[in-house]
Amino acid sequence: MGGLLKCAVNLLLCFFAAILLGCASASRTHTNVAQQPFGKTKEGVDVFLFTLRNAHGAEARISNYGGIVVSLKVPDRNGKLGDVVLGYDNLDDYLKETPYFGALIGRYGNRIARGHFTLDGHEYTLATNNYPNALHGGLKGFDKVVWQPLILASPDGPSLKLSYLSKDGEEGYPGNLSVTVIYTLLEDDALRVDYTATTDKDTVVNLTQHSYFNLAGKGDILNHVVMMPADKFTPVDSTLIPTGELRPVEGTLFDFRKPTAIGARINQDDEQLKFGKGYDHNWVFNKQVGEFTQLARVYEPGTGRVLEVFSTEPGLQFYSGNFLDGSLKGKGGWVYQFRNGFCMEPQHFPDSPNQPSFPSVVLKPGQTYKNLIVYKFSVQK
Ligand code: BGC
Repeated sequence: MGGLLKCAVNLLLCFFAAILLGCASASRTHTNVAQQPFGKTKEGVDVFLFTLRNAHGAEARISNYGGIVVSLKVPDRNGKLGDVVLGYDNLDDYLKETPYFGALIGRYGNRIARGHFTLDGHEYTLATNNYPNALHGGLKGFDKVVWQPLILASPDGPSLKLSYLSKDGEEGYPGNLSVTVIYTLLEDDALRVDYTATTDKDTVVNLTQHSYFNLAGKGDILNHVVMMPADKFTPVDSTLIPTGELRPVEGTLFDFRKPTAIGARINQDDEQLKFGKGYDHNWVFNKQVGEFTQLARVYEPGTGRVLEVFSTEPGLQFYSGNFLDGSLKGKGGWVYQFRNGFCMEPQHFPDSPNQPSFPSVVLKPGQTYKNLIVYKFSVQK
């Protein structure tokens, strides 16, 4: 009898333990991330699309091909969800041709002059894929590789971890670079992007995110009002390589310390604007490298949508979509015309490997590269 009772009690305990465990694991795996096939690369590798949704209904769709943010839906001032990033409906279009729509950028965001740099006395040569310079990591940068995906049970919101091992010598860069990027859609409608990287040989690293935003979800971005609390920028030569100067924005068309529409001054006669065909420059913030601060606020008066950009990076490439020219047809048949999207890419400064006065981009064995970017959405009534 005693044995039977013991057995029954044990069974009951097991039952409650199972319920508790079940609840615990249910809450641990309650990630609000759905996975679906997104096609195959030319090499036949399966690629997936992950949908991250928060409690408000905000939604980010991210592919493990290039870590591309394929769509990002956030509310306008009437609570209506709309997609605020440019891109394509299907993988094949991304495989065919893309100006880095929504992609993760590495190993080096932006340009390295003439595809050359010297590190520890060795000269390294990169592909000059943006003649005469190297741009965004090379012919097959991090925007074109398949990342290893893992859905995470993060307490902060639905979360996707992407990992990639960039082999020593890949695209000409030294060292095996092990990279992880964690995308998390926070409850306050912010998309957080957490980067870490380690190497087994001295190398250079500058990772960023290349989403093209249009907070109205249509048309050009000239009415978007931008504020950037940066008091300097890095002027460039005609090939968009920084001259080395940190120029005060005071009295220039690059002063966005007070909110100013992108279109207000973009067509004025100015050598720097001519070189970029508009804004395509790196703004410099008065801060310590690694300090997490606000880099920009963008407001779209029609919809009331607001994008705030925060990062630990010391610079921000604000690019006003000047190379979009109507040759690419994107989501829902939208033909992307001149300045239909803008990028806000927190970064170290372009060409830093060749510019000793810029903050260093060198990563050594034993160190961990870290970069945190937050794109936060809200509305202004
Ligand atoms: C660069 C532009 C370039 C674009 C690629 C931006 O980050 O600053 O010059 O054309 O990426 O689409």
